[in-house]
Amino acid sequence: MVAEKGEIYDEFEEHIVPPSWEERIWRIKDYKEFHDSTVKDKEAIERWWGGWAEKLSWFKNWEKVLDDSNPPFYRWFVGGETNLSYLCLDWQIEQGRKNKLAFIWEGEPFDDTIGRPKELKKCTYYDLYRRVNRIAYALREKLGVKKGEILTFYLPMIPELPQYMLATQRIGASHSIVYSGFSSLALAERIIAVGSRIVVTADELYRRGKIVPLKEIVDDAIEICEKRGHRVERAIVVKRTDRSIPWNSRDIWHHELLRRITENVRVEPERMGSEDMSFILYTSGTTSMPKGVQHSVGGYAVGLYTTMKLIFDLTDDDVYWCAADVGWITGHSYIVYGPLMTGTTALMYEGAPDYPRPDRLWHMVERFGVSILYTSPTAIRSLMKFPLENLKRHDLSTLRIVHTVGEPINPEAFRWYFKNLGREDVVASSTWWMTETGHIMTGHFPGLGKIFPLKPGTNGYPIPGVKLEVLDESGNPCKPGVRGYLVLATPWPGMLMTLYKDPEGYAVPWSKFGKSVFYTGDYAVKDKDGYIWVLGRADDVLKIAGHRIGSAEIESSLVLNPAVAEAACVGRPDEVKGEVPYIFTTLKQGFKPGPDLGAELKAHLRKTIGPIAASDATILFTDRLPKTRSGKIMRRLLKAVVTGASLGDITTLEDERAVEEAQKAYEHLREVMANEKR
Ligand code: WT7
Repeated sequence: MVAEKGEIYDEFEEHIVPPSWEERIWRIKDYKEFHDSTVKDKEAIERWWGGWAEKLSWFKNWEKVLDDSNPPFYRWFVGGETNLSYLCLDWQIEQGRKNKLAFIWEGEPFDDTIGRPKELKKCTYYDLYRRVNRIAYALREKLGVKKGEILTFYLPMIPELPQYMLATQRIGASHSIVYSGFSSLALAERIIAVGSRIVVTADELYRRGKIVPLKEIVDDAIEICEKRGHRVERAIVVKRTDRSIPWNSRDIWHHELLRRITENVRVEPERMGSEDMSFILYTSGTTSMPKGVQHSVGGYAVGLYTTMKLIFDLTDDDVYWCAADVGWITGHSYIVYGPLMTGTTALMYEGAPDYPRPDRLWHMVERFGVSILYTSPTAIRSLMKFPLENLKRHDLSTLRIVHTVGEPINPEAFRWYFKNLGREDVVASSTWWMTETGHIMTGHFPGLGKIFPLKPGTNGYPIPGVKLEVLDESGNPCKPGVRGYLVLATPWPGMLMTLYKDPEGYAVPWSKFGKSVFYTGDYAVKDKDGYIWVLGRADDVLKIAGHRIGSAEIESSLVLNPAVAEAACVGRPDEVKGEVPYIFTTLKQGFKPGPDLGAELKAHLRKTIGPIAASDATILFTDRLPKTRSGKIMRRLLKAVVTGASLGDITTLEDERAVEEAQKAYEHLREVMANEKR
């Protein structure tokens, strides 16, 4: 029975009990044609996404799927009402998942004598529901949190993080989560930007066996906030370790906050409009200040639900593991909201993938029978370096889908994992998307494999309802195989609503190719079969181990140091991390270049931005930076220096000596490094 056209769409309804892959393959063999039919015009887009939206539960139905009358401001599911906490909890319980495990949480500390983690927590949908209601009640009744208020979370990967996220959603408040690898200054800037009155943190966190004093960092941040005229009224502190920490009158332990609130307390989920703000997440762009990407409720939910079903093909028997950090968009969407909204059992792991030994990840896949794994190319590449025995020792046969995200995957890493993790028998792909898109935009999914054979390194084909194009500088589609700019040519439901308090900044990516085309900032190629290959950033944004950080952010941090006159940061390809920052600096008079100052500047970076910028940074000293005659730093030339590429056009360069000096500084550094190795 071959599906008639149009029935292909119904095919996705059968995800709960999927037909065999083989069967599905021939059913969707017209994928390209089908894909076209979902993006060809506004009606097609509305039909596709509206169909998925009907599968969710709404307090009030939407009147219109998409209002595109005022680009780049799009409105999705206009008039609809729902709530993310309701979708993730109450709705799951209504569907019979009361006693199903929502989360399996594993702490990092490991007991070597018995070969088991020291802490393991399992929590059902009902457990989570009760816990979230209690926190929601405490926030609303004890701390007076109101609809629309934004709380800042600076938390490790512990169960309380999703609980607080869901609790804020429940009462119509929002969160801005700051990844715990950011410093006190970076945290303070983000707290001030959203005006948070309340910060939620933990006493300390475990990372690769070390303890990081999180609360101390928060104290510093709050002090910076105060100096800049913003008062944080409350810091809620979750207890993670057993050691004593500094304490202030504004601080309140999480367990104290909940004390005397009955465990049976219930808080009605707030009726949120589709377009209301669910959360803000700061991400790096090309300016020194990060951008507050603002997401919606309704459209975001529909995008997540769809991609969970399509890309991860979730069924009720799966054990799903997204090994990212909740502090980034991957974790928001695919550790917390997406999995819960689809009634999944999700694994959440606190620590490093190679702690205490390089087989931790594989051991966990085996112990929990993980069937779906979502991880990063950096994690794969770092684990590939260890003897294969680490992996072979474990039974990984439960895996059926393994995707990566965050940065391009090199074909070698893809082949390695497809073979060794996936027995060449898993659905595997590099799913491309970004903080701004909210959810996955490309990727292979079950059934697609035989029509679109896997090509190691590709991002595959866009999902239905999403139109990706590769354009040249003047906005014309590039020929197959020719590098251009990756754009989203149609609106999509999980799209950012705006940048928080910065509608002009929001308009920037919608201006390069016209108001209804979103420029992603990536270079990409479309090959002759229509596969997308994202090559990396086309702008001055770095991807260090998949973490996004702007050159301008690093530079403006360094020039705050009294020794530094100017700084220019470029990415250099790295075998494991994908890319690492190389920072050329010129010094103010009276300062001498050398290893001591290099170390001091790295410490400065750590203090102002955090380990995510500092850990892999290399500082170089030079007498002048290559600039145009109008004084703009030509990062492109420095990039050529560190990658050994040709310099290209240098007619606008003001002083050629600058490039020679950069080259010398770079060669000197290589020599020093080579000597150190010897
Ligand atoms: C940038 C967005 C979305 C999850 C985490 C990253 C790069 C992301 C891929 C991929 C090649 C990728 C792009 C993009 N990127 N996924 N599968 N292949 N590049 O979110 O921090 O907002 O970064 O990550 O350069 O623009 P983000």
